[in-house]
Amino acid sequence: MMRRNLMVAATALMLSACMAWSQPDGKAATWPDALTMANGARATSAQEFEAERRPELLNLFAENVYGKSPQEKLPMKSTVTSVDRDALGGLAVRKQVELLFSANGITRALHVLEYLPAKANGPAPVFVGLNFDGNWTVSKDAGIALTDEWTVDPALAKVRLSTELKGHFRQRATENERGKNASRWPLEMILRAGFGVATVYAGDIEPDMVTGIGYGVRPLFFKGDQYLPAADDWGAIGAWAWGLSRVADYLETDPAVNAKEMIVIGHSRLGKTALWAGAQDKRFAMVISNESGKGGASLSHRGVEESIAHLNIAFPYWFSANYHHYTGRQEKLPVDGHLLLALIAPRPLFVGSAQEDPYSDPHGEYLSTAAASEVYALYGEKGPSFDDQVELDKPVGNELRYYMRPGGHDMKAEDWKQYIAWAEEMLKKK
Ligand code: GCU
Repeated sequence: MMRRNLMVAATALMLSACMAWSQPDGKAATWPDALTMANGARATSAQEFEAERRPELLNLFAENVYGKSPQEKLPMKSTVTSVDRDALGGLAVRKQVELLFSANGITRALHVLEYLPAKANGPAPVFVGLNFDGNWTVSKDAGIALTDEWTVDPALAKVRLSTELKGHFRQRATENERGKNASRWPLEMILRAGFGVATVYAGDIEPDMVTGIGYGVRPLFFKGDQYLPAADDWGAIGAWAWGLSRVADYLETDPAVNAKEMIVIGHSRLGKTALWAGAQDKRFAMVISNESGKGGASLSHRGVEESIAHLNIAFPYWFSANYHHYTGRQEKLPVDGHLLLALIAPRPLFVGSAQEDPYSDPHGEYLSTAAASEVYALYGEKGPSFDDQVELDKPVGNELRYYMRPGGHDMKAEDWKQYIAWAEEMLKKK
């Protein structure tokens, strides 16, 4: 009898620790329940979530996915290298700031490009995000310093191999690259709405390539005769997220910035990064994930589109070495996108998908956001529900919001329009 009761209890525990939904293709998928803790108990209040489930989740992500970020603080030397009070035709104050970090005989420099509304009535809210290809690609503004960039070795041009696995050279950026990604950074629209922008080239923190670790910040934290990361040490995404927090450190010292209104934002791999930065650093008052996909907002447990195997083979340095244990075994992963989103509760969080971006699994991003609503609800905040009908360009949810736009994988002015309107709404409610 005793044994039977125990078995019933164990089965009930296993069932409650996973949630199952049937998918549009009829297949059932299960992923870990947001509120059921490792000891089987369920968090039933915001206090319990905050005190027990949240630290547990942070730890699970660090152990199994992104790796542990160093706790040690390195001294940061910040130098304002240029200020233009009449940038972008008088719309903005442009500042460029160098953040220097030295340890283990090496020095790394992060170049912050900051635009603040010239006619602000007080300290401005600021979008903080990394850029893919260099600060000079964000705008045609000729005042942006050209610094070093990483480009693929031309000898490998004809080799059919993904960019990130190829050898790269460091070179000085050239004039003709100015503004090449400007469509992703509609600065005028952002500034006119009263927001600032602070951005850094991800490659300053760690170049996005398989040999990038040596040129980035991770070796600053090696101890003694260490020459390799440990299995649960941070990968490049962890390093990029660390860089975002260092930008926040600097912004806290800028009196023209409202440091209580820093909004971290990122697209795709840099959206994964924005989520992990927002999960770890509560100074980011709001978080925006644009098409962050698998290893970000989406659900690997669904077993559709980009697999953990692909993430680990194409980008073996993004995550911790421990994440490789889940190659081909995604169902064993103790966490997933919805729990990353839950770590941001109750702060406003916007998950944006694109309809023609199947690889990021837009439906998975929606399900994940709906699954995180349960945690937001504990704090009295509203997210989308599983019953919402997602229509193009029609956001669902509130503090936790989801939207899908037509078109492919990109970050467009249309996306920013949604994010700005939502951020304004959230700031008004404060
Ligand atoms: C690849 C990768 C995705 C990533 C994307 C991007 O497609 O597989 O996981 O989000 O690059 O960063 O654009």
